[in-house]
Amino acid sequence: MPKRTKSSARWLAEHASDEFVKRAQREGWRSRAVFKLAQIHETERLLRPGIRCVDLGAAPGGWSQYAARIVGGAGRIVATDILPMDAIPGVDFVQGDFREAAVLEAVLALVGAPKVDLVLSDMAPNMAGIDAVDQARSLHLAELALEFADHVLAPGGDLLLKLFQGAGFDQIIRDARGRYGRVVTKKPKASRSRSPEIYLLARQFGMV
Ligand SMILES: C[S@@+](CC[C@H](N)C(=O)[O-])C[C@H]1O[C@@H](n2cnc3c(N)ncnc32)[C@H](O)[C@@H]1O
Repeated sequence: MPKRTKSSARWLAEHASDEFVKRAQREGWRSRAVFKLAQIHETERLLRPGIRCVDLGAAPGGWSQYAARIVGGAGRIVATDILPMDAIPGVDFVQGDFREAAVLEAVLALVGAPKVDLVLSDMAPNMAGIDAVDQARSLHLAELALEFADHVLAPGGDLLLKLFQGAGFDQIIRDARGRYGRVVTKKPKASRSRSPEIYLLARQFGMV
């Protein structure tokens, strides 16, 4: 068995004692990430019954589970991830790499012609442990999600996008400000304080 590095041993120990991991297990959520969306939703009311929503980087499915409970049968949720995801009632899923044109097309085909109200992206690359590489990869995913939202969002729609603070961060905020009426960043309590992760919340698409 390979020896664990100090940082992976620390991560495992923290994970096992994490209040949000325990709560997710107790309440039947697939990931602790669900609480990040829930905490943002508490003040922002992003999800509403009957809306149309896309969830990028959805596996194992905490955000999709949470969205499905609020959106209900009258709405529509399309989710995608490079990893497989167990089915969630009310959620249509495409497995594949979002950077590939064929995957983007499959997602667009499922979304259909009507525009959507909300794009969620919690996509994060597999971390290589080399800051410059990880930052460039996560920025690329964030740029693709921002561009995707340009194509699918209805006027007035919303985007919630995971970002990592570092090179390119300010530029993506500026890009969002050119497209959305209200752009803020959110660091929910469930996001670990030592993680550079932060969420860009861009609302009122096209109302600049
Ligand atoms: C933090 S997890 C998402 C957790 C999810 N929001 C939840 O609540 O369970 C990030 C996800 O991004 C996905 N991802 C990373 N790169 C991707 C890519 N190129 N295309 C699609 N998904 C990707 C990963 O496979 C991973 O499942």
